[in-house]
Amino acid sequence: MHCIKKVTDDLIWVGANDRRLALFEGVYSVPAGVSYNSYLLLDEKTVLFDTVDKAVRQRFLENIETALKGRKLDYLVVQHVEPDHSAVIPELIRQHPDIKIVCSEKVLTFIKQFYEFDIDSRVRLVKENETLNTGKHTLQFIMAPMVHWPEVMMTYDSTAKILFSADAFGCFGALNGALFADEVDFARDYMDEARRYYSNIVGKYGTQVESALGKAAALNIEMICPLHGFVWRTNLSEIISKYMLWSKYEPEQRGVMIAYASVYGNTENAAEILACRLRDKGIKTAVFDVSVTPASEIVSAAFKWSHLVFASTTYNAGIFVTMEALINDLAAHNIQNRRVAIIENGSWAPASGGLIREILGKCEKIDILENKVSIKSGLKKAQLSDIEAMAEAIGADFPVSAGVVQSNQTAPNTVDPNTMFKLSYGLFVLTARDGNKDNGCIINTVMQITVTPITVAIGVNKANYTHDMILKTGKFNVSVLSEKAPFRVFQQFGFHSGKDTDKFAGSADVSRTENGVRYVSEWTNGVISGEVKQAIDCGTHTLFIAEVRQAFSLSGDPSVTYQYYFDNIKPKPQPPKGNKKGFVCKICGYVHEGDTLPDDFVCPLCKHGAADFERM
Ligand code: FEO
Repeated sequence: MHCIKKVTDDLIWVGANDRRLALFEGVYSVPAGVSYNSYLLLDEKTVLFDTVDKAVRQRFLENIETALKGRKLDYLVVQHVEPDHSAVIPELIRQHPDIKIVCSEKVLTFIKQFYEFDIDSRVRLVKENETLNTGKHTLQFIMAPMVHWPEVMMTYDSTAKILFSADAFGCFGALNGALFADEVDFARDYMDEARRYYSNIVGKYGTQVESALGKAAALNIEMICPLHGFVWRTNLSEIISKYMLWSKYEPEQRGVMIAYASVYGNTENAAEILACRLRDKGIKTAVFDVSVTPASEIVSAAFKWSHLVFASTTYNAGIFVTMEALINDLAAHNIQNRRVAIIENGSWAPASGGLIREILGKCEKIDILENKVSIKSGLKKAQLSDIEAMAEAIGADFPVSAGVVQSNQTAPNTVDPNTMFKLSYGLFVLTARDGNKDNGCIINTVMQITVTPITVAIGVNKANYTHDMILKTGKFNVSVLSEKAPFRVFQQFGFHSGKDTDKFAGSADVSRTENGVRYVSEWTNGVISGEVKQAIDCGTHTLFIAEVRQAFSLSGDPSVTYQYYFDNIKPKPQPPKGNKKGFVCKICGYVHEGDTLPDDFVCPLCKHGAADFERM
């Protein structure tokens, strides 16, 4: 029986899942299965994008016939000839002899290498950026060599803004009834498999992936349809940003991956002790036994972590067999841009360390620590200092942050309000509209909470008139101030109340978003329109949680931070003339003259309390 899924009104997923495959490409375990994706476009002409592996041939053919509803199949776009996507082409041709095969010259060569049928009479060759109109839709062909084979081509549907991305943005794992990445917790359940897929399948070709990403960046893409894994229709940046890191061999995670090969547990012991010493320093670690964990998972971890440690016993005068395979695998996948440390063991002639160094030393931008731990059979007390020295050398790359308490320190049991200044904040103009009244104020508390849907939280002082307007209307705009914002913007929106004044008086900037609320288009780099879903009473402030209805960028200028404002924008308080004594508001610069400042004093300009004043 057919099993199809609607992607859009005229695009159908006709692929299938395979949970019986023992090893993908004969080498990568896929315990959660894999999907072979194929998509059928039902335009004035019908277009099939790729086929599937022979293992799911029958379901696939049923799917196509069901989705076609008796129509003929006009085009087959072949983007990648690896047999998990092309195996059913000969049978498809037998069933649809009038079909035209749309492909590149290189694809044609590969099809002829793998299969024997009359393709020349059916082929329509396309080149870079050539287009094919199928009725409402226009397809643009984009060459993506070595992502993952040399013939790979991607297709951009400029009408629907869909990128058919071939192997790029794929993922191991069957789809389990879902089709879109936003139907699952992708970050939690699938990102590791997306990285394992990327690093093992195309990891070697970072430069070519970067080039394909460059081409994709020029397109207005709203959906990505890969050949394996989930379709992306929201928050595309979640996967694209990972590809930007992986293709440059940039680590995702600061921390240390330790992989060890140990026959009788002594090398493992050294690896474990090192992991403990690193953790003592507040450094994140992940430890793998290379004889137990499949190499593809450790290759993936090596693409994730910033520092790599390899600990191996010596075996037949070489590197232990599973470690040797891993090290060669990493070198073959072009691992680079990492700090590496090595622990070796050997009962009569330790040699594994030098041999690992020899292989990894040929990789680009691999910095191998001079610190060496060389064990003869088992680690001795006298060598604990070698492990400690290695942990120290690695730890030098991880400056202790203010938040990390060393194991020999006691955390002070206090609530020091100054610690709050360690938090980083931006500064924003918050605007609202009630009837014909526009108003705005300066806030520093805006944060994104969720991605699907995009929600933000804003904290607003109840003393602000804008607060009451938002409470009433449920609508607001946040204009993100850039470092170019002059002090007068903060004076305009921050130091007096909209109840008494029109904060937009005389302003030539009359920009409004779809919700009718004004925003500030000058000195800002982005605007976010929110619709309140929840208001949480927090005493002096209300925390509004809102869904983002509109968001757009205005400039590439950096956002201003609280610290930048104090260091560069807020005028420095002038020394009082004569012998005047007083207190200056750290927020707005207001000066209160006198010997004392009452505890309940509130700045008449910015409404901040006595805690924000300092003695002049
Ligand atoms: Fe799923 Fe490169 O093929």
